[in-house]
Amino acid sequence: MESISTYMQHDHVEIDGIAERATAAAGAGDTGAMAREAALFLQRLEQHIDMEERVLFPAFEERTGMREAGPSVQMREEHVQMRPILDTMRAALAAADGQSWQRGSQALLEILVPHNAKEEQMMYPMLDDAMGPDAAALLIDVKAMAA
Ligand SMILES: [Fe+2]
Ligand SMILES: [Fe+2]
Repeated sequence: MESISTYMQHDHVEIDGIAERATAAAGAGDTGAMAREAALFLQRLEQHIDMEERVLFPAFEERTGMREAGPSVQMREEHVQMRPILDTMRAALAAADGQSWQRGSQALLEILVPHNAKEEQMMYPMLDDAMGPDAAALLIDVKAMAA
């Protein structure tokens, strides 16, 4: 059975790849590719955060009772830290400003890289453990959001 860890980790890898393509296009001055990849990146990252905040973290908190303190609380806080940076990246995309996109992307990755590592090493494995056989049903809810 596919675990929540495996699925979400794979989503991180895909999103990282889109970020690299968007930044490369921005650096090369390829505005068409930048617009396409940057829009895809923002859409996929927002979707990924929604999977976590709307489905996975609430299920974890309900199952473990770790609502006030715990890994999901810290992960939500880090998502909040990403918000203003994502706003600047959205503005860079709208303005087709490659340099601004690159600056935003660099700032975001400073938070996102360690954030993803913490999720992969701690949050997702704890989720799989906490959910046990119910992880499969939760994963179906997550995948429905990717449709
Ligand atoms: Fe996250
Ligand atoms: Fe994540």
